[in-house]
Amino acid sequence: MAEINKNYKKLAAGYLFPEIARRTREFKEKHPDKILKKLGIGNTTEVLTPKVIEGLKQGVKNLANINTYSGYGDEQGKTELRLALSDYYKSKGIELTPGDFFISDGAKPDSSNIQSIFSSDSVIAIQDPAYPVYVDSNVIAGRTGEYSSEKAEYEGLIYMPCTEENNFFPSVPDKKVDLIYLCSPNNPTGAVATHNQLKSFVDYARKNKAVIIFDAAYSEYISDPGLPRSIFEIEGSKECALEINSLSKFAGFTGVRLGWTVVPEALVVEGTIPGEIRSLWNRRQCTFFNGASNIVQEGALAVFSEEGLKESKTLVKYYMENAKIIMRGVEAVGLTYYGGINAPYIWLKTPEGVSSWDFFDKLLSETGVIGTPGSGFGPGGEGFFRLSAFGHREDIESAMESIKKNLKI
Ligand SMILES: Cc1ncc(COP(=O)(O)O)c(C=O)c1O
Repeated sequence: MAEINKNYKKLAAGYLFPEIARRTREFKEKHPDKILKKLGIGNTTEVLTPKVIEGLKQGVKNLANINTYSGYGDEQGKTELRLALSDYYKSKGIELTPGDFFISDGAKPDSSNIQSIFSSDSVIAIQDPAYPVYVDSNVIAGRTGEYSSEKAEYEGLIYMPCTEENNFFPSVPDKKVDLIYLCSPNNPTGAVATHNQLKSFVDYARKNKAVIIFDAAYSEYISDPGLPRSIFEIEGSKECALEINSLSKFAGFTGVRLGWTVVPEALVVEGTIPGEIRSLWNRRQCTFFNGASNIVQEGALAVFSEEGLKESKTLVKYYMENAKIIMRGVEAVGLTYYGGINAPYIWLKTPEGVSSWDFFDKLLSETGVIGTPGSGFGPGGEGFFRLSAFGHREDIESAMESIKKNLKI
């Protein structure tokens, strides 16, 4: 008799965004005339840049010509694209070879799939709050016990608290763990780790033979030159870290889909030799994935051209201007907030005694603005609320006007 993977039953009720959609729908049914302003999901809204469109068109044209048509490609990704990526990292002072890169269809699939190459009894440490996929993929893989709704925690997971006191970046675990998920700039808190903070994790990982899974999906949003954009800026990190990134937030590829994972040759865990983990990830990708779309990879190549980079940086600036408007707005109503400076997320502290979900309902009913309750990102997010800078300028402006005019603090 077939049975389901029972670990799915452990997943905490209702994934965050469907629950937001449900409450929004319910509100809309009761108030059909109210115009809603979405500052919730971190979804890009602005069109692809001209250079990217040109690249995508080239990809399509290649398929229309017998001399340039291609079918299945290298599972690891086009050599030119991996070369462009290694050049791009080099321009930031990071030495990586094209062989270190694995092109994929996005950072989310990579960050959920990567756990599959590690032992099923690995002890997992995650930042709390965190982007939900790190936790959920490990729950489904059976690395946790049951979910306690009282504690809002999974048994067996090591939660690393990110609080106002530690500027939303945790200290290293006080016990031995095997896999550590770090995300900087962070979704949802908008906090960015310093060199010293990342170094403390690299030192910990080397000492404890742990692996850091570093999600750098928002690295292009860092404008402060003193902050690290990659874990590989830290000495010794190639032995103990891999990095995941994508063009979703840098170049508006959320719907186009293109990401990459960097698995350095030097990365080792207990009982492996250099190159073995990389071979394992290659084996995984060759077995379960047939490579990123050849059209999309042409679009990605265009991003890394001189013009493409310039255009993508302008796109990032646009969203960061939105972040400034949000920060000015929440400041005007006297709410405490974090993030927003080197990240497209503003992490609000809810008013005294108001839970994250109560604040969601309050903001929606009083102002028509939809945000994301912090508690959806883990127990440490309770009492906080995320506003996203991804949106059309006029929508961001009207959302903030409504907050300034209608929110009762
Ligand atoms: C931290 C983080 N990683 C990864 C992703 C997803 O990236 P992709 O669109 O490349 O799958 C997101 C999307 O919101 C994110 O916030």
